[in-house]
Amino acid sequence: MYSEKVMDHFQNPRNVGEIEDASGVGTVGNAKCGDIMRIFLDIDDETHVIKDCKFKTFGCGAAVATSSMATELVIGKTIEEAMKVTNKAVMEALDGLPPVKVHCSLLAEEAIHAALWDYAQKNHIEIEGLSKPKSDIHEDEEEIEEEY
Ligand code: FES
Repeated sequence: MYSEKVMDHFQNPRNVGEIEDASGVGTVGNAKCGDIMRIFLDIDDETHVIKDCKFKTFGCGAAVATSSMATELVIGKTIEEAMKVTNKAVMEALDGLPPVKVHCSLLAEEAIHAALWDYAQKNHIEIEGLSKPKSDIHEDEEEIEEEY
């Protein structure tokens, strides 16, 4: 059911933890299952290169595997390049996920976007293509009213 890469990243997740004084932190919840993901980014203010990325999750195995892969994909990239790391790109890098688990892969993408949003807010910059993150996400991208 799961690819070898998914099993590997689930059993040996990369970049688990926190970054102290992170440049940006993003937390999102998955409305479908209640799982939660937090991403920490360390960004070079001059070059906008993501020097480090760590994650913490209260989530399922697929959420762990996709977050682990997503952190590997964004480290070393510029903010602009990291914006192209979609959940589809993460799933491809993992050789796919079962259809019922696709919603789990959205957590990583949305948490990275939320952390980039946090960075943009703190530094008063605009990131092309980035909009205010939703606090909860859903597979079919239902609009969920934000309460903050
Ligand atoms: Fe919740 Fe996978 S079941 S993120």
